[in-house]
Order: sequence, then C-alpha cells, then structure tokens
Amino acid sequence: MKRSVRLWSLGLLAAAASIPALAQNNGEQVYKARCAMCHGQDGLATTAVAKMMSVPSFKSPAAKKMTAAQMIAATTDGKGKMPAFKGKLTAAQIEQVVGYIQKLQK
Ligand code: HEC
Repeated sequence: MKRSVRLWSLGLLAAAASIPALAQNNGEQVYKARCAMCHGQDGLATTAVAKMMSVPSFKSPAAKKMTAAQMIAATTDGKGKMPAFKGKLTAAQIEQVVGYIQKLQK
C-alpha cells in the first residue's frame, strides 16, 4: 500500500516536471498549426501562399525591429491581409507564439 502511494506521488512529480517543457513547445505547436501555412515553417515566407499574399519574412529588417508588443498586437488584431487571431487563440497562446517567432528571427 505504502509503496503504491509513493509510486503515485512520483508520477505526479514527473507530470509537474514536464509542464514547463510543454509550455515551451506550445508556441511552436501553435505556430505550426496556425501561422506556418502563410509565414512558412521557418518564418521566411518563401512558400507559394506567402508570395501570393506578400507575407513579409520575419527576418526582414522591419520585422526584426518589431517589439514583442507590436507582434502581439498584429497577431491579436490582424494586419493588412493577415487575419486577427483574437478569440481564436488565447492571449497566452499569442504571447507564446510570438516568443517562438522571436526564436525564428535569430
Ligand atoms: C492567411 C495568412 C496568414 C496567417 C495564417 C498568419 N499570417 Fe501573419 N501575416 C500575414 C500577412 C499577409 C502579413 C503582412 C501584413 C501587412 O503588413 O500587411 C502578416 C504579418 C504578420 C506580422 C507582422 C510582421 C511584419 O513584418 O509586419 C506578425 C507578427 C504576424 N504576421 C504573426 C502571425 C502569427 C503569430 C500567426 C499565427 C498565429 C500568423 N501571423 C498567421 C499573413 C498571415
């Protein structure tokens, strides 16, 4: 009995330890599911859809100058031909996905 309780709490610990890892991957998952079709997997906007919609590369000098707050605003409210993600993604998801874009910009 004691042993199974201990095993159970070990399982909880392992689950708790994996939460930060999940949160880190979240931005990437959201990006691949909701943004990559237009911005490209690498964010460089080299796909046919990206060219058709004149999506800018996240590595363009203008995009690199954007602050996280500006990117969050563009994602939340939309910009030009880009749809708004307000109501489709939570504020936390938008923050995470912008964090992932900033990684792509390096
Ligand atoms: C339907 C295609 C499409 C999808 C899907 C899309 N975008 Fe965009 N995005 C665009 C276009 C087009 C622009 C350029 C808008 C403009 O400046 O007129 C843009 C611009 C941006 C910008 C501003 C960059 C700049 O240089 O002006 C950010 C930030 C951005 N997108 C983030 C995202 C995120 C995050 C997602 C996914 C949650 C996403 N986009 C999904 C088409 C898309």
